[in-house]
Amino acid sequence: MDSIKSWTAEDEAIIATNIDATECKRCAVELGYWKDDYISYFIRHADRKAPEINRGYYARVRAMEIFIHQFLERCGTKCQIINLGCGFDTLFWRLKDTTNAVSNFIELDFPAVTSKKCQIIKRNKQLLQKIANEDGEVMIRAGDLHADGYHLVGCDLRCLGSVRRALTAAGAADALPALLLAECVLVYLRGDAADALLAHLAAAFPRAALLVYEQCGLGDKFGEVMVRNLAARGCVVAGGRLRAAPAEQAARLVALGWDAARAWDMTAVWRSFPDEDRARVEALEPLDERELLQQLHAHYALTVATRGDIFADMDLNA
Ligand SMILES: C[S@@+](CC[C@H](N)C(=O)[O-])C[C@H]1O[C@@H](n2cnc3c(N)ncnc32)[C@H](O)[C@@H]1O
Repeated sequence: MDSIKSWTAEDEAIIATNIDATECKRCAVELGYWKDDYISYFIRHADRKAPEINRGYYARVRAMEIFIHQFLERCGTKCQIINLGCGFDTLFWRLKDTTNAVSNFIELDFPAVTSKKCQIIKRNKQLLQKIANEDGEVMIRAGDLHADGYHLVGCDLRCLGSVRRALTAAGAADALPALLLAECVLVYLRGDAADALLAHLAAAFPRAALLVYEQCGLGDKFGEVMVRNLAARGCVVAGGRLRAAPAEQAARLVALGWDAARAWDMTAVWRSFPDEDRARVEALEPLDERELLQQLHAHYALTVATRGDIFADMDLNA
């Protein structure tokens, strides 16, 4: 039973990566890389990060956004978004401020993270009022939050039973197009657990797109340092799989039951951004460690896997 599961020191280290990601995002937002009116509710303070980190986060957030919009362009808002390992991500609130609020938005993470996110939502009217339906009805129970069109549920992504229960509790529907987000999450699922999850999701959602942002090409010297740095923080990552080049990572998703998949390293993603976009970001702060940024870009990839014809043409330059 999930309720009596005891969390290991490694789980605690993985849970802590959410704070790092949220701090980095807040820092980049404060410096003007992108707009996010909600991130500051989730993290009180963020020390200034190095310019290459800020640019890396910009590329990550912008790339996710490009494909989220492509997905919504193809199926409209009568769909569901399932944010795997959501951390303190603010996408739900950012979409609410546009015409793109979707029928059902589901966020899954370890109970330690979802219950903290629940508390923060409960404390902040600006967050809560975007969740409450017309009757203002929001149910918060045992660290989970359920409202009309928004569900935040604790689960362990390594355990399919836990994922299934969470998706059922959140009203996930196989008939509705699904956008599945895995932003810097699967790296923490060792060995077979990520494959089992990805195969399960491919089978469960016949009309779907999956966005995976994670490390790639970790077999070289730079990659080894990245793996060692994560291990030093207590996170033993799924090293083997992440040695693969982006194309191999895409092929793996097809082997797991997705109809089609494409992947790009972040160098290619960065180059695909419009010139004015890159120029704006490059003007925000000087970058001394150009080579370091190039290495970082070369060791992260975005993979887009799809099921169903409607999403088959999703592409970096679509
Ligand atoms: C680096 S953070 C990224 C958070 C968010 N996706 C983002 O990009 O801002 C990784 C998140 O994945 C979650 N996570 C990792 N392994 C998990 C698992 N087995 N079950 C549930 N959540 C998990 C962590 O708790 C953490 O919130």
